[in-house]
Amino acid sequence: MQTFNFPENFLWGASTAAHQVEGNNLNSELWTLEHLPGTIFAEPSGDACDHYHHYREDIQLLGKLGLNAYRFSLEWARIEPSEGEFSRAELDHYRRMLSACLEQGITPVVTLHHFTSPRWLIEKGGWLDQRTPDSYLRYCERVVRHLGDLIGAACTFNEVNLPVVLSKILPFKVSETPFWQTAAQAFGVTPDRLGLFQFVADPRMSEIVFNAHHRAYDVLHSGSHPFPVGMTLAMMDFHAAPGGEAMMARFQRELSDVYLEQLRGDDFVGVQTYSRMIIGPDGIEPPPEGAEMNQMGEEYYPEAIGGTIRRAAQVAGVPIYVTENGVATEDDTRRVEYLQRAVRSVAAAMASGIDVRGYFSWSFMDNFEWISGYRPKFGLVAVDRETQARTPKPSAFWLGKTARENKIQI
Ligand code: BGC
Repeated sequence: MQTFNFPENFLWGASTAAHQVEGNNLNSELWTLEHLPGTIFAEPSGDACDHYHHYREDIQLLGKLGLNAYRFSLEWARIEPSEGEFSRAELDHYRRMLSACLEQGITPVVTLHHFTSPRWLIEKGGWLDQRTPDSYLRYCERVVRHLGDLIGAACTFNEVNLPVVLSKILPFKVSETPFWQTAAQAFGVTPDRLGLFQFVADPRMSEIVFNAHHRAYDVLHSGSHPFPVGMTLAMMDFHAAPGGEAMMARFQRELSDVYLEQLRGDDFVGVQTYSRMIIGPDGIEPPPEGAEMNQMGEEYYPEAIGGTIRRAAQVAGVPIYVTENGVATEDDTRRVEYLQRAVRSVAAAMASGIDVRGYFSWSFMDNFEWISGYRPKFGLVAVDRETQARTPKPSAFWLGKTARENKIQI
């Protein structure tokens, strides 16, 4: 055992995404999808954690726990609720959030697009439409002009590779469900033009997103107070079962490496990891017999983060922030152990020379887990959705204490 000291300016944080915590994201496409007849969403997001109104006390709590960074997303559907119509009031809301962070000595890391888009964008073909990067760029320009002086770091997009990852994991294709037809009708497009960011595993979509990303990188650097800019990826730690080496290399390439290669030259890559994937000669294999599982049906495997950090560093060759890492469980003692083992595994990667600049736990609080609704519990902080009372769990205190000490035994 030895003590690993993290660098002095290491970011210790927690992450959220607007749609999952703010509540009443009425102008987003997700709000529409949640309310369609035959929806695949377990329940609507509703008030969520009403973070839109509770952000100040939430940020104060984060700081009081000992964390020094907060990753949250800006909601494009609020900032530009109708095409070309920007809301000064909503930009001011995010300005207040950023200021609340800075007042507490917390570095704000913002994501400009975390899965959700304005409804009007989807009505025009969304992430399958060639005009979308121009719309996104116009939004980025507004953000940098109005908020740029307060931003600590920015992620252009969250997990562009998620649909491709999901297409390998889900037992069905969302685009082949009756829900897809209903959704297309609701947005007034044909099913092949339903450009939903979270669900379209189509190479045309990633081309459009990367076009937007590369151009946004320049736009976001154009402000008077430059900040680092990158993108986050959903990364699985791939392990080969005997005989599965060639297939594993294929998975690694298709689900991670082709995306990491696009991020060479960025200021950082945001690594987001929850579990590992075991690949045999014929594809994905089940977790080992008797393995502990999380609430999302994945193996409980905290060391996955060490593996993905190494891969990201090797392929993208840029500094890394762990922008999401965590576990869905009702039993917080399992989360405490998960965090301990995951942070150790990050420290071990750093000790071997990898440039990791921050660790953000997913999530700051229990929230709306997309199609699974509110059942999975990823939070460091419990939320009573009737009263909106927040209760930090032991895992929140563990992470805060480790952040304060800025070291761990490895
Ligand atoms: C997403 C989060 C999500 C988390 C847990 C990531 O894919 O960025 O929005 O809640 O994983 O499933």
